Amino acid sequence: MFTASDEKALLEQIDSTLLPKHIAIIMDGNGRWARQRHLPRIQGHYKGAKTAKRIIRCCHDLRIPYLTLYAFSDENWSRPSIEVNALMKLLNTYLDKELREMMDNDIQLRAIGNLDKLPEVILKSLQQTIEQTRNNRSLVLTLALSYSGRDEIIRGINKLIKAREHGHATDEEVTAESFSQWLDSAGYPDPDLLIRTSGELRISNYMLWQLAYSELLFVDTLWPDFDESSLLKAILDFQQRKRRFGGLIDRSGSAKIVEPNR
Ligand code: FPP
Repeated sequence: MFTASDEKALLEQIDSTLLPKHIAIIMDGNGRWARQRHLPRIQGHYKGAKTAKRIIRCCHDLRIPYLTLYAFSDENWSRPSIEVNALMKLLNTYLDKELREMMDNDIQLRAIGNLDKLPEVILKSLQQTIEQTRNNRSLVLTLALSYSGRDEIIRGINKLIKAREHGHATDEEVTAESFSQWLDSAGYPDPDLLIRTSGELRISNYMLWQLAYSELLFVDTLWPDFDESSLLKAILDFQQRKRRFGGLIDRSGSAKIVEPNR
């Protein structure tokens, strides 16, 4: 995988004992990438999907256990229908074509977000891929689809209220740890590193609860141009950070890892 000489040089600098256990990415800049080339926006998304495949493979090869990609936000539904339809088609093709690759590489697919809003055909295909890959262990690849962090928290609260009403949850005091189990990401370790491409300095409603102590990295590169070297540089940057989680002791590399609930 890491064939270019700059990639090999970067790889040599990486401390394999201090890798992030969970990387979350806001893949931004597809539209601008296309505009710079006088191409329709969807061409930027096509190139962006190719980048996503390369970065997934790269995380797999680095043995990073969790990767969560912001593939479609709840707010993205308000884009022109031609773009929304093209993105849904792209997602469908991705699910169709990548199952073999996921099985061959022991990649488990999961999804977070308000999935009920997805077109039925996509939801079915997504659920089938999730089911078929559920025993894979090398990498948990999560697509955030129709996702909004606030919506995830509100849905979590409502799930907890309903469960209590039906006697499926005790009425003990809610703690941060217990509440996490009502989120779509239940059982995941929080992201150690958030990367946002394209130079925008915002979180844009992404994993609001889970990013509380994540290291944030904003890079100018547009997502379609983000490559293996960009990811390795991001990891090197992460490894320079001192992580104290609000305390005084550097706890870099000590992120807790929890087995996903199945
Ligand atoms: C943001 O760029 C990107 C999106 C809204 C979609 C992200 C989707 C992909 C990368 C492809 C699908 C991925 C998979 C894994 C199937 P933007 O359109 O907001 O760019 P702009 O800010 O430059 O206009």
